[in-house]
Parts: sequence; C-alpha cells; structure tokens
Amino acid sequence: MDKMWAGRFEKALDKQADDFNSSIHFDKKMYKEDIKGSIEHALMLSSVGIITKEEYLQIADGLNSILEDLNSGALIFDENAEDIHMFNEAELTKRIGDTGKKLHTARSRNDQVALDLRLYMRNQANDIIALLKELIKVTKEKAEENQDAIMPGYTHLQRAQPITFAHHLLAYCMMLMRDVTRLEDALKRMNYSPLGSCALAGTTYPTDRNMVAKNLGFDGVCMNSIDGVSDRDYCIELESAFATIMMHLSRFSEEIILWSSWEFKFVELDDSYTTGSSIMPQKKNPDMAELVRGKTGRVYGDLMATLTMLKGIPLAYNKDMQEDKEAIFDATETVIKCLGVFIPMIKTMTPIKENMYNAAGKGFINATDLADYLTKKGMPFRSAYKIVGTIVGECIKKNITLEQMTLEEYKAHSDIFENDLYSEISLESCVAKRISKGSTGYASVKEQLEYVAEFLK
Ligand code: ARG
Repeated sequence: MDKMWAGRFEKALDKQADDFNSSIHFDKKMYKEDIKGSIEHALMLSSVGIITKEEYLQIADGLNSILEDLNSGALIFDENAEDIHMFNEAELTKRIGDTGKKLHTARSRNDQVALDLRLYMRNQANDIIALLKELIKVTKEKAEENQDAIMPGYTHLQRAQPITFAHHLLAYCMMLMRDVTRLEDALKRMNYSPLGSCALAGTTYPTDRNMVAKNLGFDGVCMNSIDGVSDRDYCIELESAFATIMMHLSRFSEEIILWSSWEFKFVELDDSYTTGSSIMPQKKNPDMAELVRGKTGRVYGDLMATLTMLKGIPLAYNKDMQEDKEAIFDATETVIKCLGVFIPMIKTMTPIKENMYNAAGKGFINATDLADYLTKKGMPFRSAYKIVGTIVGECIKKNITLEQMTLEEYKAHSDIFENDLYSEISLESCVAKRISKGSTGYASVKEQLEYVAEFLK
C-alpha cells in the first residue's frame, strides 16, 4: 500500500521496517474512538467554515458506514496499514472520494492518537470502576454474613488478637474503595482534549478546540499544544492505579490461598473456581487466586515499561510513544480479566466459621485482653504485660490455654486476679469489648458496613 507520506521519498519502506513500524495490530482496538474523534473534528471544521456543511455530512456518513462495517465484520482491518488512523482515513477516501482527503485539515496524527487513547482509556477506566464496585459489594455481603465469625487476626503471620471475618473482609473493602477514588481522581485530571494541538505547534486555521472538547465530553482543552501531544501522564497514573489494584488483589489472593489450605481451612472455594491435579486425585487447587497473584507482576511491568519509555524522550512527539499502547492495553485487560474471576470467586466462597473459631482458641490471642484486665484494675500496663507474659510461658510448659489455668494458679502471679477474669478473656468478649472507632468490635463493624454501603450508593 502506498504511504500517505510517500511524496518526498524515492524508495519504498523496507518490508521488515514497515512491519516494525506498524501499530495497526494493536491500535485497531481504538477504531471506535478514532472514528468518533474524526466525526467531531469534521463537524468543527464545517462549523468554522474550513469545510462545507455538505462535506461534513459526506465525511460523517462515510465514517459511520466504516464504523458499522467494522462492528459487523463486513470490513476487516488491513494489517498492512501503518496504524488505525491511516486505515480509517484511507478507507474513508476509498468510500467518498476526494472529500475524505479534507478530514485531516488542522490535525496531525500526533494529536489524533493522543485523543483516541484518552477516549479509549476513559471508557476502560470507567469499566474497571464498575467492576471494583461489584467486588466491593460482593465482599461487603460476605462481611455482612460473617459478623459473628471469630477468627485469629495475624501479625507476622502469627496469631495475634481475635477479630471477626467480617472485620478482615472490610479491610479489603476500604482498599478497593481507595482504588475507585484513585481512578476517579486520574479521570478528572486526564479529561482534557489534546485535539487541535496538531503536530506540536497548533495551527493557522481558526479552529474551535473547545467545541470538539465539549462534544467529546471533556472538561476543557490541553492548554499547551506541545504538552497536548507529549503528555502521557494519564497512562502512568492509570497504570499505577492498576498496579495498586493488582497489589490489593494479590494480597487478597495470597490469603485465600492460605485460608483454603488444609493448614488453615478457613474457607472452601467453589468447585467452579478451583482446579484438580493431573496426578493427585485429592487435589483442589486455588488456581484463580494464584494466577491473579502471578499476573500482578506483568501489570507492574507495564507501568515500568511506560515510565522507562518516557524518561528519555525530548518534547514533543517521538515514535517511542507508540509503545504506550501495548503496555496500557495489557495492564487494562489483565485487571479486567482478574476482576472478572475474582468477583464470583469471592461470591461463591464458603467461610468455615468453626475452623476459624478453633484456630482462634489456640495461640493465646486473648493475652492482650488479660493484660488489659489487670490494667483496668489499677496495675500499670507494662507490669501487667510482664505478668501475662510469664503466665503464657507457664501455660506453654503445661500445654494448657489461659482459660484452663485455675484462679489459684493466677493468684500466684497477682492477687488482683478474680473469677471475672474468665469472662473477660473469652473470645466473644475480646471482640465485643473492642469499642474504639474502626475496631473489630461488633458495633464498629456495623458502622463500617454502613460506610461501605454509603460509598456504593
Ligand atoms: N501510530 C502512532 C502512535 O501510536 C500514531 C502517531 C504517529 N505520529 C507520527 N508522527 N508518526 O504513536
């Protein structure tokens, strides 16, 4: 195919170089945005008198017919085209003749691609926000059903203090809610139209950039044409938000993998989100969670690739920037696919409350509460901490729990101890007594559930 820019060249582009240069095999994803942007550009050209109304109508009809045919599959992408922008323009000229050649007046592929990618990523980011909200909803519902499920809370993966499964799940809701607002923030900052920046310096035509921006749902235009075509900050911001989402999903996955092992057995994953082994008949593997954990690395990689691609290039457009798309498309698709399996995996996961409770009974996770008991009766906390430490050591030697120590044995350590200590250190009261805001206490968990519900409204 003849290049649109062939005029000044005496030789054709080498075949291998041509393939290397071409981006249609990935930027064809943006065909709808490319066509939409072109129609609005043509409308603006006609409204300021650069082309006639009839020419605009011809261009819009032509582009809409291309859109229809691409949607239906009647038209297939020419993989020999340099990119989606060249493809659409060439196809338009094929369909409507010379008027098609007027479309690119007061525009460059530099501002065109900048526009297309912003439009495309705006949609994708909104899709991801919707998926995140769905995951928050599903996780919140699990929390609601498990407000009475006492389990050990961990630090250093050592049993630490009793918490409820609801409280633990709500921590993920908070993380995912930040992910939503992070994307919303990035969307606000990126919602400015680069179209009309042209190659880099603007144009001699009396264009109306605000009109195009408004019609395409932007809050305004990029105020500097060089920045308009050079800026990929929004890719970095979105990829970094995606990387954070993946980091959250990966931590959640890691816990699901642990919880579904025989060592924990706090949850049972649904058969439809687990796999078997080719040799071990007993196996039920948490592959979905492992894959999500594994795919986190590639999203980090996409972010790094974009940051590194941008760090050394001078203003304004450089062909290096074509590399922005594969990275951000991969990150986007990975996040969407991961959320797609994660949501139903959480929805169908069955918590095993009894195992959580039994695990909470071991490991002296009520020791802090025993120290608090002495402190509330007047002993300085540090002294109470020391006495309880000694008592735990004694229990370990005798192979018993704090509940199994007799009052006489307690009294040998301090005569402050009375019979009421037993009710103070039961797992239920350890949870119920947590009255601070944001704690695992039953009232606090209710308040958190309402907070999440309010967010989802
Ligand atoms: N395919 C190109 C890209 O994705 C479009 C912009 C080309 N601009 C240019 N001056 N060669 O970056």
